[in-house]
Amino acid sequence: MALLPSDTAYVPFVSVQQMMDLVNAIGVERILIDLADHIEADFRRWEAFDKVPRLASHSEVGVIELMPTSDGEMYGFKYVNGHPKNTAEGLQTVNAFGLLADVDTGYPRLLSEMTLLTALRTAATSAMAARHLAPKDARTMAMIGNGAQSEFQCLAFKAICGIDTVRLYDIDPAATAKCVRNLERSGLNVIACASGEESMEGAGIITTCTADKQYATILTDNMVGTGVHINAIGGDCPGKTELARDILLRSEIFVEYPPQTRVEGEIQQLDPAHPVTELWQVITGTAPGRRNAKQITLFDSVGFAIEDFSALRYVLQAIEGTGFYTRLDMLADPDDPRDLFGMLARAAG
Ligand SMILES: NC(=O)c1ccc[n+]([C@@H]2O[C@H](COP(=O)([O-])OP(=O)(O)OC[C@H]3O[C@@H](n4cnc5c(N)ncnc54)[C@H](O)[C@@H]3O)[C@@H](O)[C@H]2O)c1
Repeated sequence: MALLPSDTAYVPFVSVQQMMDLVNAIGVERILIDLADHIEADFRRWEAFDKVPRLASHSEVGVIELMPTSDGEMYGFKYVNGHPKNTAEGLQTVNAFGLLADVDTGYPRLLSEMTLLTALRTAATSAMAARHLAPKDARTMAMIGNGAQSEFQCLAFKAICGIDTVRLYDIDPAATAKCVRNLERSGLNVIACASGEESMEGAGIITTCTADKQYATILTDNMVGTGVHINAIGGDCPGKTELARDILLRSEIFVEYPPQTRVEGEIQQLDPAHPVTELWQVITGTAPGRRNAKQITLFDSVGFAIEDFSALRYVLQAIEGTGFYTRLDMLADPDDPRDLFGMLARAAG
């Protein structure tokens, strides 16, 4: 007779459906605000974390990455891919899942889908960074690249930075039309633009979130006026950037983790010694953020493991006492910890 697994064998698993139910129950904007606070709290204790550039396995068409970190109590990692050609095949550019474990025992505490969670955490991180760097009176954001991440970005900047107008541009008008539709009832003033230049009008914040496996020039130097904040999301792999190099030379550059960003971010176009500021230092007050109204601030975002750790930490708390997870029989738990074979043999009857 098959024995039922013990309680120890089970790990909470959050599926895509359950993540959608959780997000819709709490509300997208509320989650974005809460995630930004969790991420900011972890950036404040940056020095407590194990940090390593993500492990990337590149192919001709994309990348598969593992992103681990630990704060000494919990260990987390995310599996994520980036395949810009996928949308043409009806597949997502980015897919992810991740895990949190107890450092004390090494036992997993949570397994979760992270495709939706990555979009939420990326948007929350962007807006959290902008809260420290963008001009305080910015109310309009240009949003270039209207794919999977774009609505999350727009809503995070509304909820966290007080943006009331988004100006959308994508080389594919169908992507812009989809984004307009999805933001229809968001309370944002949504304007579809026919060019990148047009999307810049009156924008205090510029977000670039395109997917193309090349050194692209989504923003040329003449498109960027003084005093703006640039939130550059899409340049996140070697050989994959979005900004003209001249813009970088005019900007004060803020990054997540330099050893990773120097290889993957916009700054791969610059000398390896080019000065950058780590965002956590601005948050803890050990480095200045925006110093004046004329400065161009650039958040050269590539996505770092601590953001995923914070997001998983948030989900673990948020699912407690809810039905938004399934218990997965994921861990072997023999009666005698050394009798793994006996457990197998008994299962054979
Ligand atoms: N920094 C981070 O933490 C982070 C996190 C998630 C995703 N990303 C990156 O963000 C990018 C966007 O991700 P997604 O899931 O929204 O991808 P997506 O494929 O769903 O959307 C990308 C959009 O960019 C548009 N685009 C491509 N070239 C363009 C151009 N020259 N001008 C204007 N629009 C253009 C495409 O038409 C598409 O609509 C990807 O490159 C991804 O790797 C970064």
